[in-house]
Amino acid sequence: MSNTENIVYLNGKYLPVEEATISVMDRGFLFGDGIYEVIPVFGGKLLRADEHLQRLQNSLNRIGLANPYDNDAWLEMFSHLLEKNAGHDRAIYLQISRGAYVKRDLGTQKNADVPESQLTPPTIFSMVLQVTPPDIEVVSAGISAITVDDFRWNACDIKSTSLVANVMLKQQASDAGVEDAILIKNGQVTEGTASNMFLVKDGILVTPPTGKRLLPGITRDLVIEIAKNNIILVEEREIQQSELVTADEIWMTSSTREVAPVIKLNGEAVGSGVAGEMWKRMMDLYQQYKQQLRNGG
Ligand code: PDD
Repeated sequence: MSNTENIVYLNGKYLPVEEATISVMDRGFLFGDGIYEVIPVFGGKLLRADEHLQRLQNSLNRIGLANPYDNDAWLEMFSHLLEKNAGHDRAIYLQISRGAYVKRDLGTQKNADVPESQLTPPTIFSMVLQVTPPDIEVVSAGISAITVDDFRWNACDIKSTSLVANVMLKQQASDAGVEDAILIKNGQVTEGTASNMFLVKDGILVTPPTGKRLLPGITRDLVIEIAKNNIILVEEREIQQSELVTADEIWMTSSTREVAPVIKLNGEAVGSGVAGEMWKRMMDLYQQYKQQLRNGG
């Protein structure tokens, strides 16, 4: 197999993506009954692997699905997959669904009721995403966004593959001619369609607390940690929608976006309308962190 092929992992096998197929009865396909993770990889090193695997475990616990592998087995599989797919800055995508039952039935098999041999195995899928390292000039041009009503369920801490609500919210943003949306629930900021939210006001970094209304982002935690290590004040508290209007800066964070400045919201400039000083500082510190990881630090 050449190194330019897209080799994916499916249920114990490494295959070209065109050959990796699953049953139409898979509950991931029928119900979105599954969970996933996205783990950034810089120069062959996984960013915060333990934290991602812990969040994977939390998502599995929340949907009542046993973890098919231990952490060492996951890491070994990731490393084989990375070997088989060339690239420098990449991300591991990993998904586990509850597998394919014979009948389309919402009910789940309980370990206690069904002998181990008759339990349907989960579907385990992983692939390597090619990530273009953010070009600072492009990123600093900033994002335009709108605020939208966060109509999602009260289980957003689960990194669930049931993402149709997020797709609809992102669609609202593109229908409005902007890149992304900031989600508002009961007058408070929750997160982006696929990112966590921060604002800067009077030199203080503010982000909503974790809970069932948002995903506990690994990038979010890293940004908080970097800020604290660099004597930037951080407050984890609810953000009222009205605070977005008076914020000096607004950022979106995620494994793939890293730290991205929102410069226009609902057609109005955020702060001075350009990527802010605090963002530049955080972006610099974040890139240093990545560089240390690449160098094996
Ligand atoms: N999504 N909130 C939501 C709803 C997300 O989908 C994501 C990331 C985040 C940020 O989490 P992290 O910092 O751990 O990437 C917050 C991934 C990148 C995705 O769906 O592709």
